[in-house]
This record gives sequence, C-alpha cells and structure tokens, in this order.
Amino acid sequence: MQTLDEMKPQQSPELLKSLHILTRDGKINQDSRRKLKQVYHLYNFIEPTLEKLNQEKEYYSIVDHGCGKSYLGFILYDLFIKQNFGKVIGIDTRQELVEGAKKLASKLKFDRMEFINSSIADAENLIDDHVDMVTALHACDTATDDAIYFGLKRKAKYFFLIPCCQAEVSRVMKKNKSASLKDSITELWRHPIHTRELGSHLTNVLRCLLLESQGYKLTVTELVGWEHSMKNELIIAENIGIKKGNAKERIQEILKVFNLQELEPKFII
Ligand SMILES: C[S@@+](CC[C@H](N)C(=O)[O-])C[C@H]1O[C@@H](n2cnc3c(N)ncnc32)[C@H](O)[C@@H]1O
Repeated sequence: MQTLDEMKPQQSPELLKSLHILTRDGKINQDSRRKLKQVYHLYNFIEPTLEKLNQEKEYYSIVDHGCGKSYLGFILYDLFIKQNFGKVIGIDTRQELVEGAKKLASKLKFDRMEFINSSIADAENLIDDHVDMVTALHACDTATDDAIYFGLKRKAKYFFLIPCCQAEVSRVMKKNKSASLKDSITELWRHPIHTRELGSHLTNVLRCLLLESQGYKLTVTELVGWEHSMKNELIIAENIGIKKGNAKERIQEILKVFNLQELEPKFII
C-alpha cells in the first residue's frame, strides 16, 4: 500500500477519495495506482504548456476527449487550473460517467469544469469556447482520430494524445491481405498478431503525418514504462504554423505500400 506521500502538495484528498484512488484511511488503492501513475506522468508532460498558456492568456480551455470518469481532467484541474486561469471540458458518450463527473465537480466546487454527453464527432458545435488544448487519454478505437479532427477544426494549439487500440487500419490490412501476399513486404503483417500490431503502429504514424501536414511540430514518446500500460505512446503536437512539405506524399506512399489507399480521406485533409 502506498500512502499519501505519493500525492502532490496541492492535491485534494477529497478528489482522490471520490475517484476511488484513495481509500477511506488515506492509502492509495492499488488498482487505481496504475491509472494515477499514468495521469501524473501525463500531467508532468502537460504542465509546462499550462504554464505557458497561463502566462499568455487570461482564459484558455482544454478539451478532454473520451474523458470517461475524467481522471485526467480532475487531476489537471486540481493540480493546476483551480489556482490559475483556464477551463476543462470533458466529452464522453457514456451518460452515467458524464453525470458522475458533473456531480463530483459540483461537490468539489471545481466551477470551471464542464462535461458534455456526446460523441466527439457531434461535440464540435456544442462547444463555444476557443479550444487551446486537446487531450485524449486512451480514447477508444477511432475516437483519437475524431479528437484530432476536432482539434484541427477548432485550431487547437496543442494536442496531447495517448491512443488506444485502433482496429480500423488493421481491419483494412486484413481485408486486403490476400491481394498483397505476392509482395515480400506483406510478411510484416501476414500473421494476425502482426496485422494488429503493425496496424496500430501505422495508425499512429499516419496520425503524426496528418498533424505535421497541418503545421504541427511533434514529439512522440513513451508515457510510462511498458510495465504500467501497453497503451503507452504519447503524441504531443504544437502548432508552429509550418506545414511539413512532404507529409501528404509520405502518407500516400505509406498507404500504397500497405495497400491501404482506401483510407486516404482519413489521413489527407
Ligand atoms: C478507455 S476509456 C478512457 C477514459 C479516460 N480517458 C481515462 O483514461 O480514464 C475510453 C472512453 O472513451 C469514450 N468514447 C469512446 N468513443 C467515443 C467517442 N467517439 N466519442 C466520445 N467518447 C467516446 C468511452 O465511452 C470511454 O469512456
């Protein structure tokens, strides 16, 4: 059992108890420890950008896509936003989670938190605020793609994405496999486990190129050690207004090599 020592000084024990991260006697719940560790790591990556936004603006908003119980949103608010400017908006399709998050925010008087019960694709018109930062922590399957489109449309300056499993690309690789088998390169995804792994890797590569094609500078790294989570890739993007000149061509080339041309509209916009 870990104790309160793992908590940050400005952290509210009330929040961690409500998120079931802390037991009633002030110990860290082992099951939730892993999640907290991931969220803390992510917070450490995000904090310098929050500092920057806080210095530059009197008002900024962070939209957390596929927020679930909103661990990330609550920790961002508790550790930073509550004593600074800014607002956190969570979006999720699961009504019971959104209602629970709304109640918790109200109980803790986290007044600059808002939750929207909607799919990401439909949320674009439900948010009036200027969007400065998009986050998506393990947003399922294509929800990370939707978060990217959302952020691009709303001209978000920053993205922090930790993709979840994505089945769409591997599904197309599987569908087209027999037609590709004549080429030796198909050995890279002939076995089903390789189709899944390579499909997931290619998805993130293509997402990165899409963001680069739209003027973002990327950092792609690991969130925590692999022992804590298999879904561990962190994509950080900052809009610097310089589009990577060959990004679109590279997307096209990759799609061709892997017989995925039908996905072109998804990655070239
Ligand atoms: C694996 S959970 C992660 C939740 C949270 N971000 C976290 O890390 O604890 C994924 C969440 O994304 C939500 N979700 C999946 N697809 C979505 C979509 N298209 N629009 C909005 N929410 C979505 C699910 O309802 C679920 O709560």
